[in-house]
Amino acid sequence: MKINTSFLLFATVLVVLIGTLSFEVCDGALYGKALKLKFYEKTCPEAQQIIKTVVEDNAGFDAFLGALLLRMHYHDCFVRGCDGSILLDPTSKTEQVELQAEPNLSLLGFDVIDEIKTQVEAACPQTVSCADIVALAARDAISAPFGRQMWKVPLGRRDGRVSRASDAIANLPSASSNFSALLQLFVHKGLNLIDLVALSGAHTVGVAHCGTISRRLFNFTGKGDTDPSIDPTYAESVKAHCSVNSKNIVEMDPKSSFSFDNHYYKNLIQKRGLFESDASLVTNPFSAKLVNQFQNADAFFAQFAKSMKKMGAMDVLTGNQGEIRKNCHLRN
Ligand code: HEM
Repeated sequence: MKINTSFLLFATVLVVLIGTLSFEVCDGALYGKALKLKFYEKTCPEAQQIIKTVVEDNAGFDAFLGALLLRMHYHDCFVRGCDGSILLDPTSKTEQVELQAEPNLSLLGFDVIDEIKTQVEAACPQTVSCADIVALAARDAISAPFGRQMWKVPLGRRDGRVSRASDAIANLPSASSNFSALLQLFVHKGLNLIDLVALSGAHTVGVAHCGTISRRLFNFTGKGDTDPSIDPTYAESVKAHCSVNSKNIVEMDPKSSFSFDNHYYKNLIQKRGLFESDASLVTNPFSAKLVNQFQNADAFFAQFAKSMKKMGAMDVLTGNQGEIRKNCHLRN
């Protein structure tokens, strides 16, 4: 028993260290080297402006569309890399694509991607990938209220031809994940502890369905109880929106869920993270330290920009790999 406990402690420290050190190695060295900021400069110089205009026309001045597109981009990147596979429709009754996997059923914003693709195809046929469109649209939607680009998006991703629901289930963490499960998954993707804490800050925007937190609120240990790690006043206010079996939605960052800011981290230190995965970020000393650092908005924005660039370059297809889809929903 003693050996097991020591071993577990050793393994956790090792994962944290690898996770933290891998930051330097993976930040550009292993990932996305082929991606370039000016990739479409000669082949489709108008692409980025078209994307920005369509996004801004649809976004208004809050982060509502940003939340949808940011989550779409993340769900694309974590499953077979950022290859637009999240957009593919099934082509037979038996095919189960990523979109049909449970965590993806609540994704929205595809109409905006379609509008962009139609306009970009009209300007430059079969030149700009759907994967790049999703990456740029997510950035531009979050950036719209700021009037400046919140992170850089190197380009040149190609579109994948494979999309499997089972890959989405295996690669997207659940809201009830604990810290070590989250860290393991992120490290497996070439991300690290810093990226985990920074990218989770995306939960400063958007909404969640009550079903996602029902167990945490109403039946945490199977005895009709609430997770004791959640602030009781906050738990009551969430319960006021989310009765048992409710199909309602709830703001991820109450009263600030349409503004991209560092309020998420202010919630975390008050035990007001919505998911167990959010709350878990203060259960590890390394990540808790970052949560404290991100109480400073500029520190959060700077790290979020770095981590988004890294996530956006994960396992990308480049060069002659994959294809440039004509229609984002269908393989050519
Ligand atoms: C760390 C592990 C993560 C877990 C366990 C997780 C889980 C979830 C869940 C369960 C929802 C609510 C879905 C619903 O009920 O409709 C959600 C929403 C969201 N997630 Fe995450 N997520 C994680 C990381 C991320 C990352 C890395 C990003 C982006 C960089 C992100 C962006 C978002 C956004 C923006 C929403 C709100 C979407 C909307 O308003 O429709 N999440 N996440």
